Amino acid sequence: MLVLGIDTSCDETAAAVLSDGRCILSNVVASQVVHARFGGVVPEYASRAHMTMIVPVVEQALEQAGVAFSDLDGVAVTNRPGLVGCLLIGVSYAKALAYDLDIPIVGVDHIEGHVFAVRLARPDVRLPAVCLVASGGHTELMLVEDWGRYETLGRTRDDAAGEAFDKVGKLLGLEYPAGPAIETLARGGDPTAFDFPRAMMERGNLDFSFSGLKTAVRYQLDDIGRVPEGAELSDFLASFQQAVVDALVAKTVRAAEAASVTTIAVGGGVAANAHLAKHLTEEASRCGFETIVPPGKLCTDNGAVIAAVGDSLFSRGVRDGLDLSARASR
Ligand code: KG4
Ligand code: ZN
Repeated sequence: MLVLGIDTSCDETAAAVLSDGRCILSNVVASQVVHARFGGVVPEYASRAHMTMIVPVVEQALEQAGVAFSDLDGVAVTNRPGLVGCLLIGVSYAKALAYDLDIPIVGVDHIEGHVFAVRLARPDVRLPAVCLVASGGHTELMLVEDWGRYETLGRTRDDAAGEAFDKVGKLLGLEYPAGPAIETLARGGDPTAFDFPRAMMERGNLDFSFSGLKTAVRYQLDDIGRVPEGAELSDFLASFQQAVVDALVAKTVRAAEAASVTTIAVGGGVAANAHLAKHLTEEASRCGFETIVPPGKLCTDNGAVIAAVGDSLFSRGVRDGLDLSARASR
């Protein structure tokens, strides 16, 4: 089955063609640069950019896959959660396409898409597994009992992990999204140079909180009295990054222990962070767990993971009608 996957939930216009649920024939992502100087996504600009990009991005995805519109067997589109104005562009386009080609359409949960990065990376993964989804909008620990069957074990009470990276980047004058830049600048820095809090670490707690960390960063910057540079900036960001990574790793391993699974997996943009991958893999292996970290391109927003969820839904007979709508929440 050839499925076109579309994601326009935030600031990336993404389309991919997936064959038989696992073979990625193309995976095109157009990142919007318009938000860089605002320190976060401006919803109205994002919707307008999706409108301009959706047609060329889908055309490119088909061209790279070497298939024609008439070859498609189904279209999967993120319809929740996300910025409604942005989601509507993808959903409207997908509905028009499904109607025109007379093929089935299915709406996909963006967070489930992040989980399916794991299945694309490792089709033979043994379930149940605990999956950490850490992105710009969500930070959640999920028990993946089966594909399509999940239980939430913990989630952030305030900011998402990616949001913490982006907000700290903004405080330091870095462009949005700041996660990748912080990872690069932190390289070689001393992660113990600055003392940042790890919140909600008491036993049994599987939730996260990152807003206190962001405030601690602001206070430390006030104390320093200027934006750090050079080695001091590396130390500062390495210390901040370590605080996020420590919380994510500790809770994820704790969740895997509580759920008695043998496999830990990650998805979402923050999972593209190599420092997180290294620490999680080391700690998980020390505690006897296997870790799956999908390639960065499957962790950040993309159409392939949406197509993968769509393929799985189609194979279970799930379809939506042309009344499919977009939702801000799950
Ligand atoms: O999953 P994603 O592409 O979009 C959302 O669903 O939000 O995640 C984007 C988030 C942004 O907050 C970005 O700063 C963060 O993931 N991110 C990273 C890295 N790459 C992306 N954070 C830390 N290190 C990275 N290498
Ligand atoms: Zn995402």
